[in-house]
This record gives sequence, C-alpha cells and structure tokens, in this order.
Amino acid sequence: MEKRNVVLTGFMGTGKSTVGRLLAVQLGFAFVDTDDLIVARDGRSIADIFREDGEAVFRDWEARIAQELAGQSGLVIATGGRLMLDEGNASVLGENGRVFCLTAAPKTILARLQDDGGKRPLLDVSEPAREIERLLETRRKGYGRFLQIVTDHKTPDQIAGEILQIIRGGD
Ligand code: S3P
Repeated sequence: MEKRNVVLTGFMGTGKSTVGRLLAVQLGFAFVDTDDLIVARDGRSIADIFREDGEAVFRDWEARIAQELAGQSGLVIATGGRLMLDEGNASVLGENGRVFCLTAAPKTILARLQDDGGKRPLLDVSEPAREIERLLETRRKGYGRFLQIVTDHKTPDQIAGEILQIIRGGD
C-alpha cells in the first residue's frame, strides 16, 4: 500500500488538526502536527516564541521540521497555516506527500478559533475578523496552488471522508 504522506494546509481554523487525526486513523498512518512538534522541541508555546524571539525564529523552526518530516513516510501532517506557503517547505513536503488545502469562509474561521481558544499570535489584535480577511487575501494565491477542500457546514468526519475518497480513488 502506498505510504506517501498526506499533508494538510490551509488557514488557521480550517480544521487541519481535527481532520488530520481522523485521516490518520483511517489510513493507519501516524499523525503529526507541526505546531505541536515545534512546541515540544522548543519547550515554549508558539505565542512565547513569537513574543520573545519574533516570527522569523518560528518560521526557521517550520523549515527545519518540514525537512525532517519530508524524509519520513506514512504520516498525516497537519501544517501550521503558513508553512506550505513557503516555496522551500512546499517543495520538500510535496515530493513525498499529497497536499490538500482546507478552506473556510472568514466567519467560519472566526467562530472556530473562538471555540478552540487556541492562542494565535497573528490574530491577537484588536479586530481579528478584519485581520483574518486581510491575511486570507494576502495568502489567496499561495493556498490556491493546492487542491481545495471546502469545510464550511461539514463535520470533520465528512471532510476526512472526502479526502479519503480522493486518495483511494487515485491509488
Ligand atoms: C500560523 C498558523 C498557526 C501557527 C502560527 C502561525 C499562520 O497554525 O503556525 O500561529 O501564520 O497561519 P494553525 O494554522 O494550526 O493555527
């Protein structure tokens, strides 16, 4: 059976980690979340890395993790929202991975992020709704290069099922 990695990209709050965990179970793959891996390696939260060292240090972490995971197979990889927008990261992870981009409307994203209470330093601003729209606009082209999976009004199981169908159909 093909053990090519499955790589999930997309904006914060599109469900990469939730859907990724379900996919990993279905495929019998290991699940990895790049944000969690960085936190485990660095020993600090993402918010602390951003605050104490700046975004560039976090992006260096992402590049190292992308290189490392690209050398492994049989993984479902939920990537941080910007990781795959870096050409180098996309190129190494794309070599041994099938990439899916989860999408959601700004309203859906805002609601999900409020629900999961996660600390996203980039959205720790006075008007997160506007910032989501602004960031989505600047990233539209980058995300647009990958196969799009719409997640609005769908359960994580439905989304995972859709992706599985594509993976299995393409075997
Ligand atoms: C980021 C997304 C976050 C995390 C960091 C930066 C981004 O990951 O990597 O806060 O630039 O989009 P999630 O997409 O898992 O929230």
